[in-house]
Amino acid sequence: MELLPPLVIKGKKISLPIIQGGMGVGVSLSPLARAVAREGGVGVVSSACLDRLVSKRSGRKLTTYEAAYEEISLAKASGGAAGMNIMVALVRDYEDSVRGALDAGADFIISGAGLPLNLPAIQQPKETALIPIVSSSRALELICKKWERVGYRPDAVVLEGPLAGGHLGFKIDQIENESNRLENLLPPVKDMALKYGGTTVIVAGGIYTHADIVRFLEMGADGVQMGTRFLATEESSASIEYKQAVVKAGKEDIIVAHKPGSPCGLPFRVIKQSPMYVSALDRRRPPKCDKGYVLLKDEEGKFTRCPAKESNENCFCICNGLLSSAGYNSDKEEPLYTVGTNAYRIDKIIPVKNLMDELTGRVLAPTT
Ligand SMILES: Cc1cc2nc3c(=O)[nH]c(=O)nc-3n(C[C@H](O)[C@H](O)[C@H](O)COP(=O)(O)O)c2cc1C
Ligand code: SF4
Repeated sequence: MELLPPLVIKGKKISLPIIQGGMGVGVSLSPLARAVAREGGVGVVSSACLDRLVSKRSGRKLTTYEAAYEEISLAKASGGAAGMNIMVALVRDYEDSVRGALDAGADFIISGAGLPLNLPAIQQPKETALIPIVSSSRALELICKKWERVGYRPDAVVLEGPLAGGHLGFKIDQIENESNRLENLLPPVKDMALKYGGTTVIVAGGIYTHADIVRFLEMGADGVQMGTRFLATEESSASIEYKQAVVKAGKEDIIVAHKPGSPCGLPFRVIKQSPMYVSALDRRRPPKCDKGYVLLKDEEGKFTRCPAKESNENCFCICNGLLSSAGYNSDKEEPLYTVGTNAYRIDKIIPVKNLMDELTGRVLAPTT
């Protein structure tokens, strides 16, 4: 077992080069992020639907800004580094989430599911590192060029390959391309990062063991971001049914949903037995929009447009499906379980401490 080197971003030294990926809706909240930060990694809260989730937990009505502020404060309460994942696709709440996280002193803002072209222009980030998520060197270049106009460079970049959970930054027919394997995407992204000042590169998607981490560090990555392994920890806020579905899932149960798929227009990886997905295949749930997190603006500049609002032909109602998976309104809406490709390898729900011991190589992984 090799010792893992620390990760340095914007002058901040993180003991371990392991970022726990943001997992919305309501999977990576402050309990998970705090536990990871305490173990020397980076804990990341997902900003998705936080106003509802934190209002329900605290019993008082919070705005998006207040909920983001509160979650970052809680995530940092036991020490270590914590940040917020803010998806570009959540257009309506994007800027309020960024401001709340910045004002609460987040160590990192990590932003993908679209290109975060305006992130550094929203508010002076001060000590907070701004980190875009990309799936190609071209996307990184576009971001660097746009950010240069406001005199900012990404403090690091997350390169997410096609094996990840959640939304994928690839066209449906390109997911399996050899050229899109994470190993093959890394060299051009490293080159682009060097062109723009040597930005730190974090890789994500399908990384599962200590050996995987060591392999990617040897290939030139500075750190890794991992989602699925943290989903099935005791500290994650996924419902127990969700965690059990992960433990039960076989390789062939994990598919990329597309028609019906996410109204955000990106391929979305799910467990095919997820109740909302099964209903969506039969077009059983009538369209109904009562959450509105992924609404886009109409011609008058009002947030009214979502493909899942008018028709259930091609899209499921992702807001309600994912909220239900985190135990919100689960008596009214069916859950939708998103996972990474490797979720079938998980056979137990374990505490973050045990997982981090295994990932760092402090303890050998149990053989099954
Ligand atoms: C349950 C789940 C929810 C996720 N939600 C988000 C999200 O809200 N925003 C985001 O940028 N990435 C999201 N992701 C992607 C992760 O942050 C991470 O980059 C990815 O899962 C890494 O691949 P892995 O799961 O194979 O480790 C999600 C992943 C999972 C498994
Ligand atoms: S239709 Fe559903 S997925 Fe679309 S914005 Fe409304 S609540 Fe969200």
